Amino acid sequence: MDRIELEKRVEQLNDLLHEYGHAYYVLDRPLVPDAVYDQYMQELLAIEAEHPDLIYPDSPSQRVGGEILSGFGKVEHTSPMLSLSNAFNETDLRDFDRRAREAAGHALTYICELKIDGLAVSLSYENGRFVQGSTRGDGTIGEDITANLKTVRTIPLRLREPATIEVRGEVYMPKRSFAALNASRDEAGEEPFANPRNAAAGSLRQLDPKIAASRHLAIYVYGIGGDGTEYGQDSHSDALDYLDTLGFETNKARERCRSIDEVIQYIEKWSAKRAELDYEIDGIVVKVDAFEDQEQLGFTARSPRWATAFKFPAEEVVTKLLDIDLTVGRTGVVTPTAILEPVRVAGTTVGRASLHNEDLIKEKDIRIGDTVVIRKAGDIIPEVVMPLIEQRSGNELPFEMPDHCPECESELVRMEGEVALRCVNPQCPAQMKEAIFHFVSRNAMNIEGIGERVVDQLYNSGLVRDVSDLYTLTKEQLLTLERMGEKSVSNLLKAIEVSKANSLEKLLFGLGIRHVGEKAATILAEEFGTLHALMEAEEDRLMQIHEIGEKVADAVTTYFGNDDVRDVIHKLEANGLNLMYKGLTVQDLPAEGPFVGKTVVLTGKLSLLTRNEAKEKIESLGGKVSGSVSKKTDLVIAGEDAGSKLAKANELEIPVWDETQLVESLGEKG
Ligand code: IVH
Repeated sequence: MDRIELEKRVEQLNDLLHEYGHAYYVLDRPLVPDAVYDQYMQELLAIEAEHPDLIYPDSPSQRVGGEILSGFGKVEHTSPMLSLSNAFNETDLRDFDRRAREAAGHALTYICELKIDGLAVSLSYENGRFVQGSTRGDGTIGEDITANLKTVRTIPLRLREPATIEVRGEVYMPKRSFAALNASRDEAGEEPFANPRNAAAGSLRQLDPKIAASRHLAIYVYGIGGDGTEYGQDSHSDALDYLDTLGFETNKARERCRSIDEVIQYIEKWSAKRAELDYEIDGIVVKVDAFEDQEQLGFTARSPRWATAFKFPAEEVVTKLLDIDLTVGRTGVVTPTAILEPVRVAGTTVGRASLHNEDLIKEKDIRIGDTVVIRKAGDIIPEVVMPLIEQRSGNELPFEMPDHCPECESELVRMEGEVALRCVNPQCPAQMKEAIFHFVSRNAMNIEGIGERVVDQLYNSGLVRDVSDLYTLTKEQLLTLERMGEKSVSNLLKAIEVSKANSLEKLLFGLGIRHVGEKAATILAEEFGTLHALMEAEEDRLMQIHEIGEKVADAVTTYFGNDDVRDVIHKLEANGLNLMYKGLTVQDLPAEGPFVGKTVVLTGKLSLLTRNEAKEKIESLGGKVSGSVSKKTDLVIAGEDAGSKLAKANELEIPVWDETQLVESLGEKG
């Protein structure tokens, strides 16, 4: 064969193998006998071996796993990967429904889906080719696990249309594969995985894609990243059907429900049938179907208001409560923890469980020596449900909270209106350690490699007394810590260095100011732009900010009024930490221009800009980009082949521009 013929043949083999693979793995309807598939694959492999330049990145041969990676790169998601609010019972569901209907102003149609218990991933396609896949990470930044995801047979490497699209879904390990994997690990003397979710997550975190390839992972996709309306669908159910036509596997157990009663019936049906499935589900996701309604409902900082996850009740087991331990948290709250006879529940062995506070122990009459029922709240955090009083021998001991801090001996106080007892000594070592631990945590400064054990050592050795000391740590100092080798020290130093550039809201949240959670931190960072501006702000000024109340305003001014705090901040600054907000601030927005305060809808195909570029530019000029046309829309930008949205805009007599007009007006101002 000459070169041209060879290229053609490779192209053809790629096409055929993609087609056959889709039919076999996704549709479960093989088009050809296995032998035919194998024969084509062998032919392709032979050509690729001889002509490596003809290996397409999305060649079906890439599923077996290529080179070993040295690490995972970071990927910023084009729009955040959010999580869902939870519903634990019928009341929660009815509340969700009522709130949603009130906000929408009319009855709603829901779509119910199984909540697959795996790992959320994002898949990016350009012109129909799989280019990048990533984990959810902290929701904004995830890890690039493209090589591992290519090994998942039901992730199409090539779509059936040349779409440029970001798709989200859940990678999971079927129960059968999980059982087989653990059996073989057992045989090899390796630690078995606790549950299919851990096994799936562990497989995707391997640097050697061949391992992932051997693990029989699968995926159900459940949505389109960013604004799903871009692809011409009006509802979530249509979007899922569209994903099917592109060649993805969606879960077919979904159903549209016309009322919350139908939703509840769906949940009851699947609660009963759950065990029959070949994959684990941990609940049911309920989503408002129409995109127009979704948009009206919008989002909170963490999750959409148009969806919720019903969580199946947790598995409960019985064990003995051996003792009650006390821990001091970041804000000085002393929490009692149950020490349990280790027992397996929901996939892991549990030896400790939070008892929350003294009142709860009294209320439930929990005593040391009791036989107790435990479960995992939200399937993660172990808790004591109740003691089995009929099983008491009479030797059980009622528990009394101490009146002094178990760590620093200072007197504990109960703040007005609080059930918790607090150690109010700001120098209490337990609190200082917790503060450091919070500072490095993922949603704060995200310094990987500092766990509780490392914090303990750093603090006890005197190397780190406040968070600013993290930035002066040296290699030699870190090497003196237990179980810290050259490699982990160098990674840790790198992580510390990288964290210096974090945007202000991460630092603000990391400082652990009372009542300042992630959302308030972001609002404050956005509003003030720099830490210094915030530090000088007075309470009145803070209270003028929408969504900042008296409690937060008071906590912020008290915090920055403290000399020790100011001292730490000066040290952070001296060590080169970024103290600025990196997103757009209110001040950055222009005061006037064609887009200020305008709601703009993009529709049809754009050719000069990508959707995202257009959106970002409009937003940077003070506009808001929305997914659906309504009376509130000020302007519609119609690209090629614009359809129903353009028609609606005309019907509502909303101004319509073409892409050239858009680009010209962006040019004027930007
Ligand atoms: S929708 C904006 N649908 O559950 C919310 N999530 O907190 C997008 N999950 O980590 C999520 N099955 O990975 C959605 N059918 C389903 C799901 C599902 C599993 C996971 C998802 C996320 C978590 C929700």
